[in-house]
Amino acid sequence: MEREETATKTGQILLTGQEISARLKELAHRIQTAYADADRVVVVVLLSGAKHFADQLFTLIDDDKFQLTYVKASSYGDGFTSNGDVEIKGLDKSALADKEVLIIDDIYDSGLTMARMIDAVSCAKPRSIRTCVLLVKQTEHTRQVNIDFKAAVVDDCFVVGFGLDYGGQYRELPFIARLEIVAARIPENS
Ligand code: IMP
Ligand code: MG
Repeated sequence: MEREETATKTGQILLTGQEISARLKELAHRIQTAYADADRVVVVVLLSGAKHFADQLFTLIDDDKFQLTYVKASSYGDGFTSNGDVEIKGLDKSALADKEVLIIDDIYDSGLTMARMIDAVSCAKPRSIRTCVLLVKQTEHTRQVNIDFKAAVVDDCFVVGFGLDYGGQYRELPFIARLEIVAARIPENS
């Protein structure tokens, strides 16, 4: 006897490591140009998905006026989609008053996470708020958010790699790929 279980694997590669590197160089240039006149910029990075992206990006920028800070944003849902309940932990609002703030996330999907972050940062009365993501997913965003900086656009599918995970898996991949669900037949006695 066998039982059927679902498993996941990486599918089509949407962005290779080389393509990501080229996009990050362009993005770094655009961010530096946009903040050329700023003395100090507080960069709020959403853990865990955006950490790898932000760390790589700011290695290219190499300017100490950008101060990286990290907050934990968790959205709850079925593993693939957010149910709109976004919890933010570790945001020090006192450090944002009258500052230029750049919020960084891995992907703009429903928009609920970024919208919630913008609301939370706005309460701290910053001088400006800008947004940056590695990926914009081509989908109907539940909340429309202005994304100031993006590295790439991907189709409406679940993607993993370069920091993006599924259940904690696949973050370390150097490329971005579609996630595929596969059916696996498991012997009953295993
Ligand atoms: P949003 O709130 O739906 O825009 O999604 C934002 C968060 O959901 C991101 O910070 C990711 O953590 C996660 N997410 C959305 N789509 C994907 C995906 O395709 N792969 C991995 N994580 C995703
Ligand atoms: Mg996230």
